[in-house]
Amino acid sequence: MASPPPFLLLLLLLLALFSPLNPRSRAAKLPFHPEDILPLLPRQLSWPLLNALRRPVDLLPTFVGAASASNGSLEWKGACFYESTAWMEFHNKTGSEFGGGTLHIKVSKAHSWTCMDIYVFATPYRVTWDYYFLSREHTFEFKEWEGKAEFEYVKSRGVSIFLMQAGMLGTLQALWDVFPLFSNNWWGEKSNIGFLKKHMGATFEQRPQPWVTNISIDDIHTGDFLAISKIRGRWGGFETLEKWVSGAYAGHTAVCLKDSEGKLWVGESGHDNEQGEDIIAVLPWDEWWEFELNKDDSNPHIALLPLHPDMRAKFNETAAWEYALSMNGKPYGYHNMLFSWIDTIDANYPPPLDAHVVASVMTVWNQIQPAYAANILNEALNKRLGTEGLDLPELLVETETRGSSFAELLTIPEQDDWVYSDGKSASCVAFVLEIYKAAGLFDPISSSIQVTEFTIKDAYSLRFFENNSSRLPEWCNDGDGVELPFCQIRGRYRMELPGYNTVDPYPHMNEMCPSLPPKYSRPSDC
Ligand SMILES: *[C@@H]1O[C@H](CO)[C@@H](O)[C@H](O)[C@H]1NC(C)=O
Ligand SMILES: *[C@@H]1O[C@H](CO)[C@@H](O)[C@H](O)[C@H]1NC(C)=O
Ligand SMILES: *[C@@H]1O[C@H](CO)[C@@H](O)[C@H](O)[C@H]1NC(C)=O
Ligand SMILES: *[C@@H]1O[C@H](CO)[C@@H](O)[C@H](O)[C@H]1NC(C)=O
Ligand SMILES: *[C@@H]1O[C@H](CO)[C@@H](O)[C@H](O)[C@H]1NC(C)=O
Ligand SMILES: *[C@@H]1O[C@H](CO)[C@@H](O)[C@H](O)[C@H]1NC(C)=O
Repeated sequence: MASPPPFLLLLLLLLALFSPLNPRSRAAKLPFHPEDILPLLPRQLSWPLLNALRRPVDLLPTFVGAASASNGSLEWKGACFYESTAWMEFHNKTGSEFGGGTLHIKVSKAHSWTCMDIYVFATPYRVTWDYYFLSREHTFEFKEWEGKAEFEYVKSRGVSIFLMQAGMLGTLQALWDVFPLFSNNWWGEKSNIGFLKKHMGATFEQRPQPWVTNISIDDIHTGDFLAISKIRGRWGGFETLEKWVSGAYAGHTAVCLKDSEGKLWVGESGHDNEQGEDIIAVLPWDEWWEFELNKDDSNPHIALLPLHPDMRAKFNETAAWEYALSMNGKPYGYHNMLFSWIDTIDANYPPPLDAHVVASVMTVWNQIQPAYAANILNEALNKRLGTEGLDLPELLVETETRGSSFAELLTIPEQDDWVYSDGKSASCVAFVLEIYKAAGLFDPISSSIQVTEFTIKDAYSLRFFENNSSRLPEWCNDGDGVELPFCQIRGRYRMELPGYNTVDPYPHMNEMCPSLPPKYSRPSDC
């Protein structure tokens, strides 16, 4: 959209600014509702204005229903178009195995000639959006379903439709390049690479072959860290966003463990089990490596970060194994994933994100996968407020009542000893660092370290790793002329871990750190 001329902008701004004083009567005299013009303003104005005009709970996306092919059409009252209906039609225009679909949306009875309705459409496999300004039938194309699972889901449960606040238009436009990240194809991979280059300054230089290292497991030891970076599909998109908001150049982690017979194992939180759940698992190296080489469709890039010999000497294997096995089979730590990143009220959100956008995403997620992630986040938020069983809107109201804000609520540090309804929680990196903590690597200050506050970047920045390149295994970075301080063992592009192996642990480390792109600079004592 072209920017409106400045005087018009000023006029609109004034109108919008005055509207909260007396919104209804003023609106009655004008040919349009002042809030209708919000989408015309640049995002930097529209979003703060909307925030000022509305209570946080009113900014949440509203679930209007699911459009399906079998149940007739879905009807609801939009914010602009008072009569809105939607239905789904399956087609096979591309001649692919599962075909695609067209979402029909018919809108009419607009309450003013300047208003528009913005919608987000979601399945568990994609999220996308569109906006409508004209009274007529519109269509939205799903060219091809991602696969059988999405096809079956939409057949039985439809596409979920959420009505957004009109002032979110700019925010959604600014997030435009986020939506393709989740596609599981070459285009999705290119989107992820493009996004990380543009927003983080990542380089993605191609390495010479071999892209898989012929490793010898005799050279891998207990406590060696695995930094993984996935760049395709659902996990790829998810990791790209996690990297962008946290400043980490890897999106997943695991740890090597040797047992008393010398057999090598991998401890991983976020392992896909056969039921498609993400769990904590301790599994034989061969099984893990075989999965990463042949079955992981996210094009994983993997680096082995060997522990420093002094750390290895300090490492209590008995205690590490005890902790790892006590967590084996537990669910992945969604509870604490979000909170490791958000430490500050405004210095952790790269624009256009803010606490309200996070709340919006959680609302959509809650609706789509209720048994899964967002419920779990709600539990974490309840813990922070000392409440029980409140859902997200109720949590927002409760926070406001207490004179606090959702942004502030998100900054309250996670405590490593919090126990959730499904047990103790550990995200991928929290699990690895809990093992380090159990093994004594944070001694003597381990009681003042909350590992759930560490991002992946915080983990690989710890000065725990090998710093003498002549002690790295012989096969390390085999065939690559560029010498890395760690061993990349899989991947077409060279991995980079800025800040690797530089920070000594200190009490209350990482509990108040900003993280803003593109530099993600970090005060030394946060
Ligand atoms: C779409 O067409 C292709 C080729 O004609 C066919 O193999 C596939 O089964 C069709 N898919 C559906 C969902 O009808
Ligand atoms: C269709 O209607 C039935 C019965 O009203 C309901 O149980 C089902 O969830 C609906 N399906 C969709 C996709 O809305
Ligand atoms: C891998 O290395 C081992 C010796 O370390 C060697 O015997 C084997 O042939 C190598 N495999 C490949 C595919 O190069
Ligand atoms: C290692 O951990 C085990 C189990 O927690 C403990 O019994 C043992 O004393 C520890 N060893 C050392 C050297 O600290
Ligand atoms: C690095 O390791 C090699 C081999 O163990 C050793 O000879 C050398 O002194 C070490 N360098 C430093 C700076 O510690
Ligand atoms: C590696 O770290 C140790 C202390 O942890 C230090 O004494 C040594 O000089 C470092 N070596 C190199 C090559 O930087």
